[in-house]
Amino acid sequence: MCKLCNLNPARAEAFAERMIVSLNEGSLMLMVSIGHRIGLFDTMSQMEAATSNEIAEATGLQERYVREWLGAMVTGCIVEASRETDSEELRYQLPAEHAAFLTREAGADNIGVFAQYISVLGYVEDDIVRCFQEGGGVSYERYNRFHEVMREDSGLAVVSLLLSDVLPLVPGIQQRLERGIRVMDIGCGSGRALNLMAQHYPESIFVGYDLCADPLETARREAQRRGLTNIHFEQRDLTHYAPEDTFDFITAFDAIHDQARPDHVLRSVYQSLSNDGHFLMVDINASSDVTQNVDHPVGTLLYTISTMHCMTVSLAQDGMGLGAMWGREKARVMLNEASFTRIEEHLLEQDFQNRYFVIQK
Ligand SMILES: C[S@@+](CC[C@H](N)C(=O)[O-])C[C@H]1O[C@@H](n2cnc3c(N)ncnc32)[C@H](O)[C@@H]1O
Repeated sequence: MCKLCNLNPARAEAFAERMIVSLNEGSLMLMVSIGHRIGLFDTMSQMEAATSNEIAEATGLQERYVREWLGAMVTGCIVEASRETDSEELRYQLPAEHAAFLTREAGADNIGVFAQYISVLGYVEDDIVRCFQEGGGVSYERYNRFHEVMREDSGLAVVSLLLSDVLPLVPGIQQRLERGIRVMDIGCGSGRALNLMAQHYPESIFVGYDLCADPLETARREAQRRGLTNIHFEQRDLTHYAPEDTFDFITAFDAIHDQARPDHVLRSVYQSLSNDGHFLMVDINASSDVTQNVDHPVGTLLYTISTMHCMTVSLAQDGMGLGAMWGREKARVMLNEASFTRIEEHLLEQDFQNRYFVIQK
């Protein structure tokens, strides 16, 4: 049967248009990532309409590159360009409504941070192609800037809401942290959440474990900078983690699904948790059923990040390759298999990425 002989021309035309829009939008995100990294959006948000020379001067960047980047910004409808007379030089302006989603001042709304994932993933495309053909996975060392971008990402959603909105989801935890308890963070990365809690709750003791040395170095430097003495970061592969201590509060911020063996890790969490303790598991908010994710606002982005990072880093460790989109249904099954029975789920209005599981023995 000739599939292409029987196509619906209107549907085909609409699809072709959508693909072309996607080509434009995909390339735009590379330019947004660059604009975020080198502060172009931040500077432009403080300027009136300006020429490419004035923008280059204000940012200390090369005018020829700035002007070409502005070409992508103007055709991508992020920056507006105008000239009063034909002979005048073009002036560029970043509208306030756009700056509200592209600048460091925008805080948790800064989409420029997430745009960086496109280039982080592009860096390992050859490795991923090889995995499609031969199997296996891509290990953390192959990535450029993953932990750096992850650090910015977690700073936006989880960390900025941690004290005000996230901890209050866990009954009584703030009072217990004030009195002094033992806390463990699994897959702590650059340790932003843990350092914040350690500073805020000096009577409690905090331990952060992660597989990778680089983010732990960043975490330790930050703890030192804050003068914290109640926190300790340790490089550890949690695949074979055998609990030595008990903890009253265990946290995992976006760190269960890309473990090599999340099933083992969840069982270890159960064994390490004190009888009256809480486990806070923050993970991607999605369904385990892809058909339920069609309307997910960032479903395509998350499956892409999963294929090109979360799933593959797990497979690179001979792991399960659970993937970022394991979803709430699968999460509940795995928590039950780890012996947890008391599981509450929460969503936060300000965080469109994550689901907050508050779990007890
Ligand atoms: C998506 S990042 C989240 C990092 C951090 N919790 C945050 O929110 O910024 C997942 C983390 O899990 C860590 N990880 C992955 N596999 C691990 C393993 N087998 N043992 C310990 N940590 C692991 C990674 O190194 C990475 O830092």
